[in-house]
Amino acid sequence: SLVFFFFLGLFIVNSTSIHGEYIKRSDFPNGFLFGVSTSSYQIEGAYLEDGKSLNNWDAFALTPGNIRNGDNGFIANDHYHQYLKDIEIIQSLGVDAYRFSISWARVLPRGRFGEVNSNGVLFYNKILDNLLLRGIKPFVTIYHHDFPQELQDRYGSWLSPLMQEDYVHFAETCFKNFGDRVKHWTTINEPNLFTQMAYVNGKYPPARCSQPFGNCSAGNSDIEPLIVMHNLLLAHGKAVKLYRKDYQRDQGGSVGIVVDCLMYEPLTDNDLDQEAANRGLAFSIGWALDPLIFGDYPPEMRQYLGNQLPRFSNAERKFMADSIDYIAVNHYSTAYVKDCIHSSCSLTANRAINGFVDVTRERDGVQIGEPTGISMLPVVPRGIGEMIGYLKKRYHNKPMFITENGYSEPKEQEVQVQDIQQDVKRIEFHEMYLSSLAQAIRDGADVRGYFVWTLMDDFEWILGYSVRFGLYYIDRQTLARIPKLSARWYQDFLKNNTQAP
Ligand code: NOJ
Repeated sequence: SLVFFFFLGLFIVNSTSIHGEYIKRSDFPNGFLFGVSTSSYQIEGAYLEDGKSLNNWDAFALTPGNIRNGDNGFIANDHYHQYLKDIEIIQSLGVDAYRFSISWARVLPRGRFGEVNSNGVLFYNKILDNLLLRGIKPFVTIYHHDFPQELQDRYGSWLSPLMQEDYVHFAETCFKNFGDRVKHWTTINEPNLFTQMAYVNGKYPPARCSQPFGNCSAGNSDIEPLIVMHNLLLAHGKAVKLYRKDYQRDQGGSVGIVVDCLMYEPLTDNDLDQEAANRGLAFSIGWALDPLIFGDYPPEMRQYLGNQLPRFSNAERKFMADSIDYIAVNHYSTAYVKDCIHSSCSLTANRAINGFVDVTRERDGVQIGEPTGISMLPVVPRGIGEMIGYLKKRYHNKPMFITENGYSEPKEQEVQVQDIQQDVKRIEFHEMYLSSLAQAIRDGADVRGYFVWTLMDDFEWILGYSVRFGLYYIDRQTLARIPKLSARWYQDFLKNNTQAP
């Protein structure tokens, strides 16, 4: 019998710890959607074709030093011309849904100061029609980081309330032209990350720094990020109000917003660090979501920021509250958080705008998780379950979709093309995260779908093409799409596991 227990032990170890738990599609509820995600600027290319204007990322890429290796999205994956092939690939994976975004500068090259570009509308019509023909549900992000440069030059884009009007005009153009076929909208991708990258540390265009962060000279105050988020949220609220009034009845779609959901764990089991983790989450996630669910910023933020934090009028609070039908969660990783109110921290962290917390990825010299191609995003599978648990509690189990989750291999694993294609680590990543997610759902969380980031290696913003998140490998010379092992894994996962009765 000792021998029996030995083998039983071996079996348990093999089936649970090597690839996380063995996860099957049937571990998810009936009707749960699986998909893949992309965004316009990261794959389309054709940057000045058929009437598209220069956008903020095109302009940013023109200045040497802004993007690693001098990369840009001028050609990207040439998806603009190869979309049909890409949709066939998407179909071959066997997904239920595909998330993509609309290039603002392709549809409205001059924002609300010019005409709708019919070529741009035609392009997205072709995408939508081809998806529907193949039974794939489109999940459309209206705005994913890229907008016409003219809106920057004219009035400074998101620092100005005028951008709200441009956004609403763009959103309405999308509802009008595409809304008959789109049942799942998200208004804005990661407003919280965007604000951080573009107005706190100055890494994304328009590269403004909130002192003492970053090293750009366009420094200002802590107020700019707060104003930018305020304009983003009001833009969302106004667009949703319009959709519900004029389009939803006929079109029958629903609307969410995509939030960057980095999980925080306390660095120590000290109560102060526990509070710091909660405070940090309120300042990063509550900042974007509380106004759209409860109608105002988190009380934690008001407490520390006082009058620096903008205010919504009563009328605004009314249409902002309950202005999302679901939370669209982008989740990749988890970090430790340390309290900076009662203990001393580095100067940059010890500031109200971050909620007086210090964010680290290491405890007693031990990293929180396996490294990936982005140092800020180590692999911490339990974090997705923790994040879902946090959102479920704070927002009373509002419906959720995981709109992004994915893995990029660290540099040292990129030895040869063949190695990158044998992406066992990516498969393990998804299996482990899916296991944690499935457990959160069994614990009662209302999560309705999961999208892999991303279909194919693409333009990873300031990191250019140096970081690869794709299920498909892109040969940068030929732009050939070559399936990695993970593409095969996803296909099998989706195919071989019929729903449990
Ligand atoms: C979130 C962003 O939405 C997406 O554009 C980006 O490529 C991934 N995270 C990976 O960093």
